Amino acid sequence: MKIVAYCVRLDEMSSFEKFSKKYDHDVKIVKESFSPATANLAEGYDAVCILGNCTANREAIEMISKLGVKYLATRSAGFNNIDLEAAKEVGIEVSNVPAYSPNAVGEFAVAVTLCLARNFKQAFKRVELQDFSLGGLIGFELRNKTIGFIGTGRVGQTAIKAFSGFGCKMIGYDLYPNDNVAKYLEYKTLAEVLAEADIISLHCPLTEDNLHLINEETIAKMKDGAILINTSRGQLVDSRALIEGLKSGKIGGAAIDVYENEYGIFHYNHENDIIKDENLLTLKSLPNVIVTSHYAFYTDEAVTNMVEYSLQNLYEFEKTNTCKNKLV
Ligand code: NAI
Repeated sequence: MKIVAYCVRLDEMSSFEKFSKKYDHDVKIVKESFSPATANLAEGYDAVCILGNCTANREAIEMISKLGVKYLATRSAGFNNIDLEAAKEVGIEVSNVPAYSPNAVGEFAVAVTLCLARNFKQAFKRVELQDFSLGGLIGFELRNKTIGFIGTGRVGQTAIKAFSGFGCKMIGYDLYPNDNVAKYLEYKTLAEVLAEADIISLHCPLTEDNLHLINEETIAKMKDGAILINTSRGQLVDSRALIEGLKSGKIGGAAIDVYENEYGIFHYNHENDIIKDENLLTLKSLPNVIVTSHYAFYTDEAVTNMVEYSLQNLYEFEKTNTCKNKLV
């Protein structure tokens, strides 16, 4: 199949080379992100392969449809950036990579939780400045805490299994509770998880229904000093409300690998730019907030799988007219 792969990073190149041969694809690599501004690069191709930070909106999808593109394969698990309705209307078949490596994100959630528990952000800065004092660095142990998981799918389960080793109490909320998870944690209502958890870790996808799931109202229901971990999607959290919660002490700390206005900022070098997003600047500056640039997924294992499985999806479409990871 003739494929144009957008937004390809250097670290993906060897996998594209290897798996385009394996699946007998002819892949053109472009660095540009997919959007209406770059959709014309798909002229003459059967498929486009994109990433989670590309803009596959109606306009872009209609453009590639007119160019004859039949398939859109995202290398990511999340697909909230793709207008599936528009794709369905124009007859473009869409696939994602739902399980490239849940461990990458699950382990990351554990890592940032431990960083917050032991004040690593401040501790690292101090040693850089030859300040070896202890004041203010006192932490807490996870065994005494209740961890609440919102979303107990593939990533949530990896995090849950990893956290289970710390001996903490674990509770969770999911629209569809899962029997395999019930042996590790007690399922509760969302209101109960918010009220009882010392640490809340988000592992649900972004949907129309849960935009700003964490907002002023839900923060008010949390325990005083609760910690929020978001490795899922930025728009699950109302950043303004999070900042207010952090300023008042209602929220005791946060680790955000994703941010609601991250597009155009995360995954780019802005060291010589003036960042104008005041909320991001505030969050970045707080001692008890860890901001990372949407890289929980970023392991060798996951990147290899993202490339391979997206090309495999297109191979399946070509050979069988369908695909196990078909979204529409
Ligand atoms: P999954 O589909 O296996 O699990 C999601 C779970 O959330 C399901 O059990 C579902 O029933 C539940 N859910 C859906 N809406 C919910 C709601 N409103 N409240 C509570 N539970 C709800 O997805 P997976 O693989 O576990 O990934 C979870 C999310 O992690 C992805 O949607 C994506 O947003 C994020 N992610 C982030 C990455 C990063 O680099 N930071 C990388 C990969 C995924």
